[in-house]
Amino acid sequence: MSNKDDVVIVSAVRTPFSRFDTAVADTPSIDLGMVVMKEVINRVGVKPEEVDEIYYGSCVVAEFALETDVPARQASLLAGFPAENISVTLDRACCSSLTTLRLGTLSMKAGEAKTVMSVGSENMPRTPHLAPGLRKGVRIGHIKLIDALFELGYTAKGFNPVALDAGEVAIEHGVTRNMQDEWAARSQELCLKAYAEGKFKTGEELTPIVIPQKKGDPIVIDRDESPRKTSIEALSKLRTVYGSPTVTAGNAPPISAGSSAILLMTREQADKRGLKPLATVVAAVSSATEPRGIAVVPAYTIRKALDRSGLKLDDMSLIEINEAFAAMPLVSTKILAGGDEKKWAELRGKTNVNGGAIALGHPVGASAGRITMTLAYELRRRGGGYGVAAICGGLAQGEAVILKV
Ligand SMILES: CC(C)(COP(=O)(O)OP(=O)(O)OC[C@H]1O[C@@H](n2cnc3c(N)ncnc32)[C@H](O)[C@@H]1OP(=O)(O)O)[C@@H](O)C(=O)NCCC(=O)NCCS
Repeated sequence: MSNKDDVVIVSAVRTPFSRFDTAVADTPSIDLGMVVMKEVINRVGVKPEEVDEIYYGSCVVAEFALETDVPARQASLLAGFPAENISVTLDRACCSSLTTLRLGTLSMKAGEAKTVMSVGSENMPRTPHLAPGLRKGVRIGHIKLIDALFELGYTAKGFNPVALDAGEVAIEHGVTRNMQDEWAARSQELCLKAYAEGKFKTGEELTPIVIPQKKGDPIVIDRDESPRKTSIEALSKLRTVYGSPTVTAGNAPPISAGSSAILLMTREQADKRGLKPLATVVAAVSSATEPRGIAVVPAYTIRKALDRSGLKLDDMSLIEINEAFAAMPLVSTKILAGGDEKKWAELRGKTNVNGGAIALGHPVGASAGRITMTLAYELRRRGGGYGVAAICGGLAQGEAVILKV
């Protein structure tokens, strides 16, 4: 039953996700964030001063460090939000833009805010190399450069590359390289199909990135740049990366840039403004497990969200599990199926029905917002129902949201 204190999504938008070496690579993540922060309120006629709080996730710190810090505060001021607006920058790795939604929801439930924006923004290709020690000077010898993107796995502190943990844990769960390649081919195919059916379109999930040029017309990016035709044969020939037993450039998402924003209101506030909610936030939960469990944590988090909501897995018409690698949806749906092969096939069938990050890209801080809105828009196309979106983040953190449309 709907309640005036429910938290509802009234607007949700993202930029297209870019590839490594395209025009977007020079655009700061703060600027990408501003694109969606303006668009998500414009679409529903909300003024910047009417947003009580902005929660902003970004997790490749070295990239936003190029603009020093507090990207949320910088983006909100530059995007026209008033000086009095409260904003928070947070980094919970790839979970970030669902953590922002969860914290925004909690703030609203606590009566602190009536309108909250949840943002995620990332430009991974723009991540600089770091040159530690220069401040002290180099009297003699080489200068060391560190690639803040390389291996994506916190190896400096002794943890494994994420791709290694994901691949090993997948094998332990009986999820082979071939299954991961098949999932990758499916992701690309479903994504191209969704595009052909007009699903990822400007005015709904997407808003374009416009990059002014010194001379001539601006460059306009209005489609995700990564989806490609592929085959299981081509995928099977790719070499594994980062020491992983299974992960390749084909069954991993590409390194991407992009942003996402979701506008939340209390149902009472949305009603007052005459806004028809896109979805109701039924439960938003967080979790973590032992650090190499990155591929299993979406399953644990989905279970926690179901427990919190009193709903059952069978109540979910659709599931989104972020394709940090193909291992994540495969391992997590297998765990959720509890060893029942038929159930596993059924769960796979309703997971990532429009493809996922392997095809679309994975700008890490923005992806959780992306899976949430992809879920909401697809539930709406299907006439409504419940769905769950879950994501894993660095060293096995998890975030999940159950939506009702
Ligand atoms: C895997 C990774 C290192 C690959 O980077 P890259 O080498 O720049 O990637 P490319 O797109 O050039 O692909 C490498 C090769 O694989 C091929 N390839 C990639 N996807 C393919 C597909 N679906 N089908 C066939 N071939 C494919 C490319 O054509 C390229 O071939 P080439 O060397 O002959 O040109 C990088 O994408 C990566 O780090 N991804 C993971 C990101 C990540 O960890 N995110 C966080 C998760 S928690």
